[in-house]
Amino acid sequence: MRTLELADTQVPVIGQGTWRMGEDRRQRDQEIAALRSGIELGMTLIDTAEMYGEGGAEEVVGQAIAGRRDQVFLVSKVYPHNASRKGLPLACERSLQRLGTEVIDLYLLHWRGQYPLAETVEAFERLREAGKIRRWGVSNFDVADLEELDAPACATNQVLYNLESRGIEFDLLPACQHRRMPLMAYCPIGQGGALLAKPVLQQIARNHGVTSAQVALAWLLRQDQVLVIPKAARPAHLRLNAQAGELQLEPQDLQALDQVFTPPRRKQHLEMV
Ligand SMILES: NC(=O)c1ccc[n+]([C@@H]2O[C@H](COP(=O)([O-])OP(=O)(O)OC[C@H]3O[C@@H](n4cnc5c(N)ncnc54)[C@H](OP(=O)(O)O)[C@@H]3O)[C@@H](O)[C@H]2O)c1
Repeated sequence: MRTLELADTQVPVIGQGTWRMGEDRRQRDQEIAALRSGIELGMTLIDTAEMYGEGGAEEVVGQAIAGRRDQVFLVSKVYPHNASRKGLPLACERSLQRLGTEVIDLYLLHWRGQYPLAETVEAFERLREAGKIRRWGVSNFDVADLEELDAPACATNQVLYNLESRGIEFDLLPACQHRRMPLMAYCPIGQGGALLAKPVLQQIARNHGVTSAQVALAWLLRQDQVLVIPKAARPAHLRLNAQAGELQLEPQDLQALDQVFTPPRRKQHLEMV
């Protein structure tokens, strides 16, 4: 699988999301098995957050990576209300416990909250110096937020990006590319919803002998410095997602997609889910 450099490490451009995991104990074994098979398929970047299942997703990840921590690049996210001088190290310690690891590779501020960015950055840097995290970054930051942050040490910005939500192409994506800061696209297949049933996507998928979800992922991955973190619990989905990077879309495919999902012509407010 293609890789890119994120936080001083070569990581696969297709990772695994974990939102909605760890919410139901009856699903736990299936979720652990899914993450493990995703790792075997090369999707060794795993994205989680203390918010998901209120710690439940981090526990699932911890169980899935037990005995194979060295194969995985771990991303977790802190709640904004924990992103203070005192709160951040405590939240990080709880995440480390649940993840069963000594260090988080990349620790993100989930979205902006009440604490000054400078305070959060200082707390991130202390965690880095203490060896609890390797690098830090942000999520759901628009251009003005990145400008205010003004921190070359910020390793990524994780934002909503898929065919239905292209607003960031106007300014945020170029701003990240200008900073050589990889952008992590969340909900890359529109949460498996209506996007996948769009006729244009289905037609392109048929032409290439693939699925609409693979077209949606390949469309994101044709760009430099973009990585995707689809979440999949079903084995068939995992296999399809892992192969999506091999699909090369043709110029006429891109044109057809632009006609239905029009690129932004002006600044749009950053969307979040
Ligand atoms: N930073 C943030 O604020 C933020 C916000 C949202 C999400 N995220 C992160 O981004 C990750 C991805 O976003 P998401 O989980 O909301 O949505 P998503 O990855 O776009 O979609 C996940 C859904 O699509 C289904 N699916 C997966 N692969 C498929 C395939 N090949 N064909 C058809 N359906 C497929 C999954 O089903 P099964 O599970 O049944 O296989 C699941 O229902 C999250 O899990 C989370 O880690 C971050």
